[in-house]
Amino acid sequence: MVQIAPSLLSADFSILRREVEALHRAGADMIHIDVMDGHFVPNLTFGPMVLKSIRPYAQIPFDVHLMVSNPEEMIEDFADACADILTVHAEATKHLDRLLSSIHDLGLKAGVALNPATPENVLEYVLDKTDLILVMSVNPGFGGQTFIPSILDKITKIKKMIKGQDILLEVDGGINPMTAAKCISAGADVLVAGTSVFKGGEYKKNIEALR
Ligand code: DX5
Ligand code: ZN
Repeated sequence: MVQIAPSLLSADFSILRREVEALHRAGADMIHIDVMDGHFVPNLTFGPMVLKSIRPYAQIPFDVHLMVSNPEEMIEDFADACADILTVHAEATKHLDRLLSSIHDLGLKAGVALNPATPENVLEYVLDKTDLILVMSVNPGFGGQTFIPSILDKITKIKKMIKGQDILLEVDGGINPMTAAKCISAGADVLVAGTSVFKGGEYKKNIEALR
């Protein structure tokens, strides 16, 4: 069954601990943390200190999506803050292979994220070092954007590429019950959703609708 990773980007930031607890109770499989630095993407969100303070309140993996320039400089702080999966953008580093090894050396799972315009072939020679592939189905930086339909083709291609390997295929951006169904048919294992999970405050019902 597909896993649902609600994005805290759509949470009420004034009560983050309660939001994390509520998402866990509602059946979230992971908590997705969108880290934005105002440089790689035009927005600023959470850093490792915020992650550290909320980490104890849900015993499920924390899936950290680093939308930052120079991710090499931050991975240690996020490891100290008890992230479980650390995902870096292929576009943000010149040395993806080395960066994935460094994440593993810190004892974390390593993910690679691809912007909508980035072709899947950048993954080809790092698959043995990749635990998760995050396919962006919107341009990163904001919640509430519309799913880009051409991404379904990329999901299908990556699914073929990783066949038989222990790699999770995650899709992030514009996920609602309709686009979720299309992503699942194309082969997605994990769906990130902000807007559609938090809509109306009915987290459990919304998560179930995505599955
Ligand atoms: C966008 C983030 C997403 C975002 C998804 O830059 O990576 O995780 O929060 O939000 P929705 O589900 O609202 O598109
Ligand atoms: Zn994200």
